[in-house]
Amino acid sequence: MRNSVDLSVDYCGVHFENPFILAAAPPSDELEMVKTAFRMGWAGAVLKTTSVESEEVPLVYPMMSSTHLEDKNLAWMGNIDLISEHHVDEIERRVRELKKEFPNKIVITSIMGSRKEEWQSLVQRLEAAGSDMIECSFSCPQGTLGSKPGMMLGQNPEASKEVAGWVKAAAKKIPVVIKITPQVADITEIAQKLKEAGVDGLCASNTIPSLVGIDIENFVPYPNVNGKSTYSGLSGPAIKPITLRTIAEIARHCDLPITGTGGATTWSDAVEFFAVGARNIQMCTAVMQYGYRIIDDLTSGLANYMERKGFKRVSEMYGLALPNIVGHDKLPRGHKVVSRLDQELCVGCGRCYLSCRDGGHMAIRFGEDRKVAIDEEKCLGCAMCTLVCPVEGCMSLAYV
Ligand SMILES: Cc1cc2nc3c(=O)[nH]c(=O)nc-3n(C[C@H](O)[C@H](O)[C@H](O)COP(=O)(O)O)c2cc1C
Repeated sequence: MRNSVDLSVDYCGVHFENPFILAAAPPSDELEMVKTAFRMGWAGAVLKTTSVESEEVPLVYPMMSSTHLEDKNLAWMGNIDLISEHHVDEIERRVRELKKEFPNKIVITSIMGSRKEEWQSLVQRLEAAGSDMIECSFSCPQGTLGSKPGMMLGQNPEASKEVAGWVKAAAKKIPVVIKITPQVADITEIAQKLKEAGVDGLCASNTIPSLVGIDIENFVPYPNVNGKSTYSGLSGPAIKPITLRTIAEIARHCDLPITGTGGATTWSDAVEFFAVGARNIQMCTAVMQYGYRIIDDLTSGLANYMERKGFKRVSEMYGLALPNIVGHDKLPRGHKVVSRLDQELCVGCGRCYLSCRDGGHMAIRFGEDRKVAIDEEKCLGCAMCTLVCPVEGCMSLAYV
């Protein structure tokens, strides 16, 4: 509780002191690191996905690649990591220790098996160790546990239902959440099948299969693992729009509670996730880039926003954007919108002119004096000029 707002949330019957959780990934793969994160204020952690003791986890290095924005912040990140090298026996020990030292923090364990007995023994052992919740990875982009090699379990609706049913049958009281992939034709079909299996919630969604780039000097894609590469899982800011759509689509068609992951970096990203129906937020790339300390900005930023907007509880924001998402045929029509330029702010770079001339409606004039003028008759308000203008607030749209 901070001033007049309460940041705590309930998800699948579990109480979190705030909505921010470490996603299953390197920031949750070492006991000491998770303890540090808990001390700094994270409400919980999904320990990196574990497996039975006999499972080999053949990691390779380097495993990360990216492209930077101009300010050196990551636009996205690709990884070829696999699940944790720490097997379930070690994770059982960690859960016991974490729950003893931090009884109010939420410890979620993430599992991946290849046979019914493995899925069921993992959930039983981790529930007995004191996990607060089980997350099942049906979506590791490098995984091969689906019905076809290279296919993710979460891409097969029937297989997803079957495996989720095994896990639910083995769990006594612990909530079971399935981490799904957005890389499917119809996410609502998967959600529906998982609901039929009786799962308690969905984690939407995992990294996105990708080929992050190719070094054109030697034609080896990134990351270059001594001359070879493979497909990566894409995470970070670039995938936020895909995650938002995935969460929104599930929330519009299925009432399973959703934990949101994929591209959230700031408190305002979290608000966007809530607005499409997520109950809490898991983060990985932002933590890997900026450290656990971002939790201070996340909680204070969210609390300030809630005070300003008059929200007392996080749950008041759930789904607020959903009524404003309609089919294209239901969008308002019959209005006129045009671009407006603030001459005081314009630096005369000409970028709006070029975009409008070659990719818009030839509605911007650019004189030899580098003065920009908009022809409102020709301008249709497509918004392209507002996207390329480098000066904040210089180019805007107006309904006329
Ligand atoms: C290096 C790395 C390793 C990951 N390992 C796992 C994993 O073991 N299990 C899992 O379910 N997700 C794993 N993820 C996915 C993250 O948990 C998270 O869902 C994803 O990165 C999207 O969130 P983000 O954009 O905040 O990073 C991993 C991600 C990264 C970057």
